[in-house]
Amino acid sequence: MSLRDEITKIINEDIKKAVDKVNPDVIGISTSDKLREINRLQNTKICKHVIMKDFGKDPVTIIPVSDIHLGNKGCNIEKFEQILKLIEETPNCYTILMGDQTETCTKTSVGLGLYDEDFDIKDQIKLLKIALKPLAEKGKILGILTGNHEMRISYLVRLNPAEMVCESLNVPYLGYQGYLCAKVGDQRYHIFASHGSSSGTTPTGKLSAARKLNRVADADIFISGHTHVKLYDQDIIFKINEATGLVEPTIRHYIVCGSFVEYWGSYPEMKLLSPASTGSVMIKLSPTTKDVQIML
Ligand SMILES: [Fe+2]
Repeated sequence: MSLRDEITKIINEDIKKAVDKVNPDVIGISTSDKLREINRLQNTKICKHVIMKDFGKDPVTIIPVSDIHLGNKGCNIEKFEQILKLIEETPNCYTILMGDQTETCTKTSVGLGLYDEDFDIKDQIKLLKIALKPLAEKGKILGILTGNHEMRISYLVRLNPAEMVCESLNVPYLGYQGYLCAKVGDQRYHIFASHGSSSGTTPTGKLSAARKLNRVADADIFISGHTHVKLYDQDIIFKINEATGLVEPTIRHYIVCGSFVEYWGSYPEMKLLSPASTGSVMIKLSPTTKDVQIML
């Protein structure tokens, strides 16, 4: 297919998407029915794919990797490498990249911006691809989210470094939100992951933001990043079990995944934020009972 054909295809797909939102069958009915039909179509057609994965009968470990900020002077590259190696060498161990993989400064970025980088976006993307390639080849990357740092490029030129890395490594690009249905042995775990967007600076504020993910989705495990700390909390809600006719307690787990940016000389020191340990958290899913273990 020629380049011209590709361009025509992209334009036609955009037109088709727009036309698909309006059902021609609604012509001839009342305005309120038309409005109801349009609303219904928007709710059903604009939807998100769930990553459905059967992990087999053995316990599964997920080590999310968040806020690497590759390129930032404070990024602990050695620690990042060690965690990738751990994921690669551990059987039944997988990862989700939680956003802010790259520092992604531009000329107009706030703060020190480009002066705070060891190497620029071109090399950040190149290095990230090299680092993630072995995991991608082994099918150990469940997906990659965008963070607010990747969005700096998107706002300027509609290119997202996280999406580019996904295309290159052939792994799912999750965008702002990722939904995973993990079948582990007899159990199913619904996982909702998002980079997060909190401006909280206290542990209470950061945890409160992590818990707010339950306003968006119904899940067993809520994973977020962005606040550069490791936190864990849980709550219980009651759910109706139609099969047993019982109201049953369901535990919801809230996990904030930490970062790879060290304290001294970095943004947290400048802003007088509390020091936090860097690295990742570990989530273990049992195949026999619905049991989630977290290690911070
Ligand atoms: Fe970050």
